[in-house]
Amino acid sequence: MDLPKEFLSKLKLLSGDRYGDVVETYSLEREASFRVNTLKVSEEEAIRRLSEMGFEVERVETKNAYFLKNKTRREFTDLEEFVDGWFYLQSISSMLPVWSVETEIRQKLEDERFMVLDMCAAPGSKTTQLAALMEGKGEIVANDSNRERLYRLKDILRQYGVNNAFMQLGSGENLWRKYGPVFDLVLVDAPCSGEGRFSLKDPSSFSDWSYLKVERLAALQKKLLFAGVMCLKSGGTLVYSTCTLSPEEDEGVVDFILDKFDGAVEVEEVKVSGLIDDSQVFVPGVTEWFGKKYNDNVSKSARVLPNKLLEGFFVCKFHRN
Ligand SMILES: C[S@@+](CC[C@H](N)C(=O)[O-])C[C@H]1O[C@@H](n2cnc3c(N)ncnc32)[C@H](O)[C@@H]1O
Repeated sequence: MDLPKEFLSKLKLLSGDRYGDVVETYSLEREASFRVNTLKVSEEEAIRRLSEMGFEVERVETKNAYFLKNKTRREFTDLEEFVDGWFYLQSISSMLPVWSVETEIRQKLEDERFMVLDMCAAPGSKTTQLAALMEGKGEIVANDSNRERLYRLKDILRQYGVNNAFMQLGSGENLWRKYGPVFDLVLVDAPCSGEGRFSLKDPSSFSDWSYLKVERLAALQKKLLFAGVMCLKSGGTLVYSTCTLSPEEDEGVVDFILDKFDGAVEVEEVKVSGLIDDSQVFVPGVTEWFGKKYNDNVSKSARVLPNKLLEGFFVCKFHRN
């Protein structure tokens, strides 16, 4: 089964000269990557232990992120230390949204009322990443609308020693009515069409893709993001992320929010401290798509075009005035 033609023509527009290389990545299996869960163990101790057990790893620049070089995922997840929650298997791209707000998190650590909303939290890769960066301080409301996935989140929070997160079952789009503008940081890691994670080795990853699906998800994302901004305190930060590439779901949603809040929210440049050259990772958001012109500030959002190491992703950071 081939990738959908309509998707490929969009990808061509988005990736230009890099199109051939980008398409090739859909046949690859990427190296597994992980981070050390510093709620359980220091990075130094964890990496030393792996080395003693014959695991070779490669660090991603200066981040708490590593590629597994010489063993299988199975060998890694079978480790007692893994079961004890020392390590979290997570793609590097999926770590980017939380990395993009590391500075804001560190600045808030001494504030006892530091409140974070993870609107679409399950199964919890970013909730656990947030909790570790927050050093167990403050409070995370970890919401998801899917009961089964919330059970998985519950297990993960226990396994990874997260004690400052409160789980909640609910539709993200309604949360602003319940909470109002009380959060310092909101993460909307939205349900999306998953184009950055398509794999030719697993056709089920794209078999139900359609333009209608993209449109339907874009409409849901607009509602979720609207609710996210409404939950944000003045001065707070919102991160919006998807693992998809269609601008209808990414930049189109950002443009909608900028228009809706007309000056009350601004887009901030996505920067990841500790990545030596993040211009190698990100390309700017597009400001025009199929004849539709977006707000120029949408270009401050960041897309990761799939490559040999990273799956496709999109991140945008907002500041509420
Ligand atoms: C991309 S996944 C989130 C992954 C998660 N943040 C992580 O890093 O592990 C999107 C999540 O949104 C949830 N979801 C779908 N519709 C939702 C809604 N209306 N409100 C809240 N969550 C929703 C899905 O159940 C799914 O768990």
